[in-house]
Amino acid sequence: MGQLWAGYLAAGTVTFAPRQGHTPETGKPALTYTFQPLEGPEAVVTVPYLLASPSLLMVTTKAGDTLDAIESNLHDIVPDTPIVLFQNGMGCQQAVAERWPQRPILAASTTEGANRPAPGCTVHAGKGETWVGPLTKSATTHLTRVVTALGTSGLTVHAEKDIQSRLWDKLIINAGINAFTAILDCPNGDILADPFYQEHIDELCDEISTVMKRDIGKDLPSITIRERIETVARKTARNTSSMRSDRRRGRPTEIDFINGYIARRGHALGVDVPANQMLTNRIKQLLP
Ligand code: PAF
Repeated sequence: MGQLWAGYLAAGTVTFAPRQGHTPETGKPALTYTFQPLEGPEAVVTVPYLLASPSLLMVTTKAGDTLDAIESNLHDIVPDTPIVLFQNGMGCQQAVAERWPQRPILAASTTEGANRPAPGCTVHAGKGETWVGPLTKSATTHLTRVVTALGTSGLTVHAEKDIQSRLWDKLIINAGINAFTAILDCPNGDILADPFYQEHIDELCDEISTVMKRDIGKDLPSITIRERIETVARKTARNTSSMRSDRRRGRPTEIDFINGYIARRGHALGVDVPANQMLTNRIKQLLP
């Protein structure tokens, strides 16, 4: 996701801060890759290391790496720099906002599609939209400026005051697709006809509907949740989900921030969540 934005933002305005502290090699860029935009020719993108405090920090790490990544870079970031979190799922955004409540922390929810078909090559695979909203009090006054800055990329960016609700909308989709594709080791569309999916999807949607209502007061019937999940699964039928891909590469998955998050919220709010817990346990058992 970071390479997608760096591919569209004006050359010379983007720098890169690695997850852990680093000693940049003089004269060497942090990143060089080929970028294939949706339209127009391929371009080589070169991104130098972050050397001075940026005007905006975009955090595009995996959910589980986010706290440590911010922690190890924060000494270079002045206190009123807006920090925008682009993670999938839920839980890590709230953890960041709780850890640094005085800082302007915002969250983004995006439907842009990007992938890396080969090392050193990033492709903008599907046009989407991005919503950005404040998580901490001080972030509110930065919202317009952040949306304008991200909008200079040419990608569609909206200000969203209720970003929690937007994050939940995406969480629903991830909760209904990702774990099934990783367990069944299949592309998104193939889950729909599988007996394992059919056995658990209604119970899963009931749990999601109840937890969401208790958590943020948003009323979405279970049937609507199932329809939304299946619409995305059909639209992205041949795609490999991020969780299936993580599993295939032997990398940690984001299950703790998807079904694991819903299970934790369910336990905290007194809602039974056996389907979310079962998917979480199954994914954890699959890990190498
Ligand atoms: O996490 C992903 O891979 C995607 O967001 C999803 C929901 C599977 C749709 O392609």
